[in-house]
Amino acid sequence: MFTYHQNCPIIFGAGAIDHLGEYVSELGNIKKALCIFDPGVEAAGIPARAMASLEKAGIACVPFNGIGSEPTIGMVDAAGALGLENKVDAIIGIGGGSSMDTTKATSILMEYPGPSKKYILAKPITMDTKTPVILVPTTSGTGSEATRVAVITQTETGGKWSVFVNTHLAVVDPELSMGMPASVTAYTGLDALSHAAECVTDNISQPHNQLLACAAISKIMKYLPIAWKEPENVEARTEMSLAADWAGIAFGETMCHVGHALADGLSVNLHTPHGYNCAMALPVALEYAAPAVPNEIRMVAEAMGLPLTGKESAEELGAMCANAVWDLMRQLELPSLKAKGFTREQCLKAAEEGYGSHLSSFCPVPVTREAAEKLAARMYDAYQ
Ligand SMILES: [Fe+2]
Repeated sequence: MFTYHQNCPIIFGAGAIDHLGEYVSELGNIKKALCIFDPGVEAAGIPARAMASLEKAGIACVPFNGIGSEPTIGMVDAAGALGLENKVDAIIGIGGGSSMDTTKATSILMEYPGPSKKYILAKPITMDTKTPVILVPTTSGTGSEATRVAVITQTETGGKWSVFVNTHLAVVDPELSMGMPASVTAYTGLDALSHAAECVTDNISQPHNQLLACAAISKIMKYLPIAWKEPENVEARTEMSLAADWAGIAFGETMCHVGHALADGLSVNLHTPHGYNCAMALPVALEYAAPAVPNEIRMVAEAMGLPLTGKESAEELGAMCANAVWDLMRQLELPSLKAKGFTREQCLKAAEEGYGSHLSSFCPVPVTREAAEKLAARMYDAYQ
């Protein structure tokens, strides 16, 4: 038995940003919106376009540009205070995962008393929020616009904790991703690949998320190198935006597993970008999970377009998928952990999160402390 659904309507297409006001108006009775973004997106002029469209539709905008590379409880509390002070009746997140996750978490404070750390706990909880949340991604990676989860960093511990809220509309305009530098295109695209491949091989995978995730994997393997090389290639940007969104729906229905757990371990200890960390962890997570999910790892290998005879063992398929990801990483010129100046010992610290994270409970092979340590070591050793 399984459930499949989509959280909210998703409007997809080039130029959609200039119609944001019309789309938000259709949600009904919205007069003032808090618009959350980061200074980089602001410098690219994207929030200005969004707010011009909103104001044209009679929706006043309260801008908040205090988003950094990782969303923290401090950002959520600051955005929440601004929203309450201005009595906004909707919250719009424009940006990458940090802005969209902060937007989701901020919606809690519109209805429940703060501070936000009361709701962002080591064990994820679901908050029944009513304040309209509208999400506009400017990267093609996190898929955050398609999920209910907000992953927020605890400032004191550096730990990443999740909370689930209701979302109401996503507007995906692939042209917004054209401004991403090559490295960000690579990191965010590999994050999307990790969402797709991990959710196919988790222990609650089902036909609907497999359908979307495998389609996303095929698109990413084909179009990520093109988008990386040709940032203005509309076809590649469109396919990558669609792939990231589908991967988002797919992992929102199920879960990521030990790959994202190890990636969070790298984030906490090395402060490297989420997508880079996911790329380091994905190959070893696929190798590790493969023996327990022979059919699903074959689906991933097929979606990647690997040359298969049909006679490969699950272990062989896991190794082939891992090699395909490493090849893609080399093609996108991702530096290894060693090349970035980190020691093996620093990388091994990721094992703690790999073992302790709730995400690892969705890995089809149990993740012991010893296994997490081996996986962390392999992340460092296998990709040079
Ligand atoms: Fe991710």
